[in-house]
Amino acid sequence: MAEKYTVAIIGCGRLGQHYAEVYQTLPNTEVIAIAEYNPERRKIVGERFGISALYEDADDLFRHEKPDLSVIVLPGKFIKDAVIASAQAGVKGVSVDKPVEARLSDVDEMIAECEKRGIVFAGGNLQRAIGEVQEAARWLHAGDFGEIRGASVHGWGGEISGGGCQHIAVLRLFTGAEITEVIAWGAPQEALEKDDDEGLMINAQFKLSNGLICPIFSEATLTRGVDVWTDDALIRWDWGPPVIYQGFDDAGARIRIDRPYTPLKYPRFSYLGTSILSFLDAVENGGELYVSGHDLRQSLEAAVAAKHSALRNNAPLSLPLADRSLALYPRAYRWLGGDQSGLVQTAQQALEDPLFPESA
Ligand SMILES: NC(=O)c1ccc[n+]([C@@H]2O[C@H](COP(=O)([O-])OP(=O)(O)OC[C@H]3O[C@@H](n4cnc5c(N)ncnc54)[C@H](O)[C@@H]3O)[C@@H](O)[C@H]2O)c1
Repeated sequence: MAEKYTVAIIGCGRLGQHYAEVYQTLPNTEVIAIAEYNPERRKIVGERFGISALYEDADDLFRHEKPDLSVIVLPGKFIKDAVIASAQAGVKGVSVDKPVEARLSDVDEMIAECEKRGIVFAGGNLQRAIGEVQEAARWLHAGDFGEIRGASVHGWGGEISGGGCQHIAVLRLFTGAEITEVIAWGAPQEALEKDDDEGLMINAQFKLSNGLICPIFSEATLTRGVDVWTDDALIRWDWGPPVIYQGFDDAGARIRIDRPYTPLKYPRFSYLGTSILSFLDAVENGGELYVSGHDLRQSLEAAVAAKHSALRNNAPLSLPLADRSLALYPRAYRWLGGDQSGLVQTAQQALEDPLFPESA
């Protein structure tokens, strides 16, 4: 039997409880400890998941426990300290969720700390981890649809870092390229002048390392995701499994094809499951992460660059940005969490919220 990995969940609110359920279900992982700041919720999740090793925060937990994996499901503001504490405690892998911190230098520091210690640093539950998104990317990269000719992003506005990190992560996956230059236009002015991304509408043009010039639409067009096209095919991610078109009918319209995706091993857990399986594969076999800390950084960096290009009358900005002190905060719920932003998960919900439906 393969090694059984011990897991600590750091932050056990709404999403942390989902993570705990997946790790308790997988045959080669075991949740051994939980760090949760809210005392009432800490007690409830301890009982709910049958864990008696309960701590206030990461520092407290690592004084007593040495898990293989540190699974950090905290609001953005608290992620960096927990990653550094995990790395220094000698875990084999750390995962965080999106959006990651706000300041580029803070993300650099987390990545460097893990890299220098040979620790896998995974990026969590992004749509990029959807099994079908990964498979469509593999088909694209294998040349099944021919050479990539173009890409575009739709509906990026409103939350260009908090939720928009999804678009950038899929764009980079599908094109197999990094963003090298950003030119952007933004509105309204009040949103541009704030520290966070709430309500900020950005249109932009990204230059990619493979030479593509990629238009970025703030509003949803007919769709809200990423399009990538070749001479005769279109791969369209609009939240969920990508839709694929290949060829044209007599009227010149694209024809939707129905190429079957490989069924998931844990369909009940959807992309939280595929994301965690890729994390385990990376720790055990050096496999490639579906979502890495680097992916989260690149999403943040594209958003920071877009905001600053817009502020400077669409000046072109080269990536990586030279000024690592630049930051863009997500809205309060993502930055501070439910308890501090007023969207509190009640004790009753923590006790009985349905997680993954049994039948799915
Ligand atoms: N990837 C996704 O699809 C997705 C979905 C939902 C939430 N998120 C992100 O995940 C994060 C958590 O979201 P949530 O809905 O679980 O929020 P939440 O507020 O329900 O849970 C956060 C938990 O962390 C605890 N906490 C805060 N600071 C702590 C600390 N220093 N040490 C220990 N515990 C601490 C809080 O008490 C709370 O229980 C947010 O940043 C959110 O943006 C991502």
